[in-house]
Amino acid sequence: MNDAVPPTNGNQPIPPPPAMDPPPPEPPPPSPVDLSALAPPAAQTVELVEPSEPRTDLIIEAKGLTKHYGTLKALDNVDLEIPKGSIFGIIGPNGAGKSTAFLILATLLTPTAGWARVCGHSPVAEPLEVRRRMGYMPDVMGVYENLTVREYLEFHAATYHIERSEWPALVDGLLELVDLDVKSNTIVDDLSRGMKQRLSLARALVHDPELLILDEPASGLDPRARIELRELLLQLQSMGKSIVISSHILAELQQMCDAIGVIEAGQLLASGAPDRILAQLGVGRSVRVRFGDGTIEEFPIAGDDEQQALLRKLIVDDDRAVLEFTTVDKNLEDLFLQITQGIVQ
Ligand SMILES: Nc1ncnc2c1ncn2[C@@H]1O[C@H](COP(=O)(O)OP(=O)(O)OP(=O)(O)O)[C@@H](O)[C@H]1O
Ligand SMILES: [Mg+2]
Repeated sequence: MNDAVPPTNGNQPIPPPPAMDPPPPEPPPPSPVDLSALAPPAAQTVELVEPSEPRTDLIIEAKGLTKHYGTLKALDNVDLEIPKGSIFGIIGPNGAGKSTAFLILATLLTPTAGWARVCGHSPVAEPLEVRRRMGYMPDVMGVYENLTVREYLEFHAATYHIERSEWPALVDGLLELVDLDVKSNTIVDDLSRGMKQRLSLARALVHDPELLILDEPASGLDPRARIELRELLLQLQSMGKSIVISSHILAELQQMCDAIGVIEAGQLLASGAPDRILAQLGVGRSVRVRFGDGTIEEFPIAGDDEQQALLRKLIVDDDRAVLEFTTVDKNLEDLFLQITQGIVQ
């Protein structure tokens, strides 16, 4: 898993060993949309010299972040600028490189090239400084035989050198936060999948980090728990924490993320505020019109002015009677399908 630095903040999942002879990735087919306005800088223009001073407005800064497994480019020249206090969502299909990026930022994997600053420190050169300030929730929880939920959180409190006298209040507070208080004496391995997810989130919060890196925290949660997770993350944001989250539950990310990054085949295809990306790609809105003769047509529109003009044209200029006029907001599901092309490495 880790080329240089063993994990100290928990039992992190162990990724499979490097593939013996991975096939070369297929060259990507042409993009279905024009991403030039959103694309990160070209490789040759990337400044790969690590700055001596971190930017104080950013919780995560990365340039040219790259991870190769043999010939496979799990992460390919990714740049990130994530402002402090924001919730940043990473979206991408299976195998896109999300967990690889998170493992690097969480100090658990050494990049092949590029650099990153997390909470003002280098995950490679200063992993302990990063771990002090950052809580990482892996996509799969480790196995903790015969530990109760309470003991599990106490164990992690101990690894962060939190005073034993503080454990009861800390654990009670965390269990209440993730709604697991009734399970405090249950053996961790006997929890349901969704409950393990919640416990894993509580563990990431044990040392009150300023940054949370959450790898698919909503996976396995029931609908109510997903809504509660979203509310909890917004609450943590209002407490001043920054959050980076990956997910396949795209509509939920749209509701809580200040910005998103779309990643595929190791490359960051687009990043920015969800609305900005939708608008730039021209997938922000469309208008569905039902005419008197029963036909239904959909018109893509860029903004309010265009919508007004369309309405005027249909009602004043067109002969056809308009029975119904509905605006259809595109969401991140549409964006995801439009930008990514299902390239699986
Ligand atoms: N230790 C490893 N050795 C070899 N290849 C690896 C290793 N870890 C990841 N990969 C490969 O790197 C690519 C990116 O994997 P990664 O786990 O980062 O994807 P992901 O976006 O998190 O996918 P998912 O949505 O399925 O969690 C995949 O092709 C994967 O097979
Ligand atoms: Mg993953």
